[in-house]
Amino acid sequence: MTAEVINGKELAQEIRKEMKEEVLQLKEQGITPHLTVILIGDDPASKSYVRGKEKASYETGISSELIELPSSTTEKELLNRIDDLNHDDNVDGILVQLPLPSHIQEQHVIEAISPEKDVDGFHPISIGRMMTGKDTFLPCTPNGIITMLKSRNIQLEGKHAVIIGRSNIVGKPVGQLLLNENATVTYCHSRTKDLMEHTTTADILIAAVGKPNVIDAKYVKDGAAVIDVGINRLDDGSLTGDVDFDSVKDKASYITPVPQGVGPMTITMLLKNTIKAARGIHQ
Ligand code: GUN
Repeated sequence: MTAEVINGKELAQEIRKEMKEEVLQLKEQGITPHLTVILIGDDPASKSYVRGKEKASYETGISSELIELPSSTTEKELLNRIDDLNHDDNVDGILVQLPLPSHIQEQHVIEAISPEKDVDGFHPISIGRMMTGKDTFLPCTPNGIITMLKSRNIQLEGKHAVIIGRSNIVGKPVGQLLLNENATVTYCHSRTKDLMEHTTTADILIAAVGKPNVIDAKYVKDGAAVIDVGINRLDDGSLTGDVDFDSVKDKASYITPVPQGVGPMTITMLLKNTIKAARGIHQ
C-alpha cells in the first residue's frame, strides 16, 4: 500500500481562507480578533514558532501583538503582565510560548490566564470541559490532528488509536479527543514495555516522541493512518519527524509529512480559538 499524504499546509490554507471571510464579517460588526503572544528569552525554536503565529494571524486578518521579555523576567513580573492582559478588553486571546525558563513554574502561568482568553486550551478549566465533552477552547495540536483525520473522513469510532507520548500539550489531550470521538485509546510512553506490541495493533497511530525517525514500518500495521507530531532539527539544519516517512509510507493508508504536516494545523487551530474568543461564545 502507498499511503495518501495528508498535507497540513494545504489543509491549513483552505481553513484559513474560510477564517479570513469570518474575520471580515466580524470586522463589519466592529470586532477585530486580537491575540497577544508572550515570548520569554531567545530560544530559536520558540522564536520561529512565534513568527509563524504572527504571520498566520496577519494573513487571516487577526490582529496580533508580540511581547518579548528577557529570560531574567521573574514569575511575579510575568503573572502581573498576564493579569493586565486578562483585564484588557482589547485582548481576546493570550498565549505564553512554552517552554519557560526553569525559574518560572509553567503551571502557575497556565492557571493565571483567564479561561475566557485561554486560546492554548491548557487551563485546567478548559481541560476539564474538554474531558466532559463541553464546548471549550481545544488544545491546538490535538485539535489540528483530529481535523486532519476528519478531512479525509477517516473513521474514528470503534477504531484503535495508539498514542506514543503523554505530554500535557499533545499526547494526553489528543487521546481524550479521540476518546470523545468513540475511538479505543492506548497511551504508550517511555516506560511502556514492548512498544511494538501496541503500535502494530493501531488503526490510528500518533507519534509524539520527539526523536527523529524512530517509528519505522516495523511499528506500523498495514493500512494504519499515521500522524507524525515530531519536529526534530537534524545537525544539517533540516527538519524531520518522529516517523521514518520513506519506510512507513509504503505500509500506511494515510501519513502526515514533516514539515508541512501537523505544524501548520496547530497554528490554524490557534487562530480558530482566537476567533472563538473574540466572539465571546465560550461558556
Ligand atoms: N510550545 C510548543 N507548543 C506549544 C503550544 O501549543 N503552545 C504554547 N503556548 N507553547 C508551545
